[in-house]
Parts: sequence; C-alpha cells; structure tokens
Amino acid sequence: MDFTGKHAIVTGAARGIGLATVRLLAENGAEVLMADVNAEALEKAKESLGGLSPKVLTFECDVSDEERVKQAAEFAVARFGKVEILINNAGIFREGWGLFENSQSSTWKKKIDVNILGTLYFTRAVLGHMLENGYGKIVNLASVVAVYGKAYMVDYSMTKGAIVSFTKALAKEVTGRGVYVNAVSPGSIDAVETANPGLSFMGRSGLYEECAQLICFLASDDASYIAGQNYQIDGLRKQM
Ligand SMILES: NC(=O)c1ccc[n+]([C@@H]2O[C@H](COP(=O)([O-])OP(=O)(O)OC[C@H]3O[C@@H](n4cnc5c(N)ncnc54)[C@H](O)[C@@H]3O)[C@@H](O)[C@H]2O)c1
Repeated sequence: MDFTGKHAIVTGAARGIGLATVRLLAENGAEVLMADVNAEALEKAKESLGGLSPKVLTFECDVSDEERVKQAAEFAVARFGKVEILINNAGIFREGWGLFENSQSSTWKKKIDVNILGTLYFTRAVLGHMLENGYGKIVNLASVVAVYGKAYMVDYSMTKGAIVSFTKALAKEVTGRGVYVNAVSPGSIDAVETANPGLSFMGRSGLYEECAQLICFLASDDASYIAGQNYQIDGLRKQM
C-alpha cells in the first residue's frame, strides 16, 4: 500500500478503528484529516501518533451536523488541495442495547443521524470533488450485524444494513467515473485480542490494526478491480 501524495479524511478518528486507520494511512505516506466529535480525544489521538503527527490535521466535527460536515470537507480540500480518500468510520453502537419493544425512538433517531446520515453527508460533501478529479476511494464502516442481524441491537443492525445498501447502490453510479466505494463489516474488534471460542472459528476477537489493514487496502490502488462490495472481517464469525 502506497499513499504517497494522497490525502484522506477519516471520521470517528479519535480512537479505535478510526485511529488505527489514520496511523496506517500516514505510515504509508498519506496526509490525513482526522474528524471526530470529541475535540479533546482528537488532540490526544494526534499526539499518540508521535512522529506521524505532522502528517495529520484535526477537525472537530459531529458527522450528524450537515453544515459542519461541509466545513470539514472544505477545510480538507483547502489545506490539502485534493482529497482522494474518505473513510466513513464514525458510528455509535456502545449505547442503547436491549429489547426492541422497550427501545426509545430518540435512540433510533440518534443512530440514524450518526450512522446513516453522517455517512451520507460526508460522502456527498466530497463526492463532487472526487468526480471532478476522476478519482476517489470511499470506504464505509458497516458491521457483521448488517448481514446477520443482532438481537438487542435491532436499531443498530438496521443502520448498518443501510450502509451496505448505500455502498452497493452508490458504487453503481460512480465507479465508471473513477470513484470506488466499498464497505467493511467488522465482527468484534478491540484494542487487545480476547480468546473467545464461541465468537469466531479463529477463537478470538480482532484487533483495530487488523481491521485498518482491510480498510486501507480498499482505499489503496492495490484494490484496483473492487467496487460496490461489503467485506466481512470477523475471524469467520460463529452465529450471532
Ligand atoms: N469495534 C467493533 O467491534 C465494531 C464492530 C462492527 C462495526 N464497527 C463499526 O466501526 C466503526 C468504528 O468502531 P470503533 O469500535 O472504533 O468505535 P469507537 O466507539 O471506539 O469509536 C468511535 C469514534 O467515533 C466518534 N464519534 C461518535 N459519534 C460521532 C459523531 N457524531 N461525529 C463524529 N465522530 C463521532 C467517537 O468520538 C469515537 O472517537 C463504527 O462505525 C462501528 O459501528 C465496530
């Protein structure tokens, strides 16, 4: 993977899969705009990049705020000149678990706003620019729950299903004009590997870095014949 001369935006970049993706992109030559709703965490995340930090910019941005998303995209284009890569990674899934019959519509709406609309806002904010340049790589973070459906995470499963459909449909509009859109669907991914024979046939959870490898591959020119796909990265998940 060589990202020399390439410029990326990663949303939800302050920790987890987003931060691991920023690091891998920067290690391989990209300049990266890190966008996240948590400004304090964003600055700490930039510091944690050490010698790579001069390659990144930070931008506080709630992806569910359409105006702010436009500003983030404009800022990236103004500072970098071009944006070739967008990683729509920001998402909420750690809250609001439980039986659907007991769920609140306010919780559904928050997940729809961030997980679905955030991805749509950011994609549209950079898409015109990418199409003008005849080049773009967009990777959307979905989830294995999009494919299998997960009890107690019904609203979240729905939002990630939408991301897979969005990816496939949009790819049909833009692939022929040089913008390749794909989705990545992680299983259980964490900072440390946890042994768990019931989770996957690999008997463990996955690492942020392992997920970043797939995301970055799809964002690279090495993935030269791939568009409109949803790749699961789950150690061969056992049934949910
Ligand atoms: N970790 C997993 O096991 C797993 C599994 C399947 C899918 N995913 C998906 O991968 C993505 C990243 O997961 P993660 O585990 O790194 O998540 P995480 O919760 O560790 O980090 C998410 C980041 O997104 C930011 N964020 C949240 N809401 C935001 C908003 N409105 N605007 C901008 N930034 C916002 C948070 O501040 C945080 O820095 C998410 O879309 C998640 O749904 C993760």
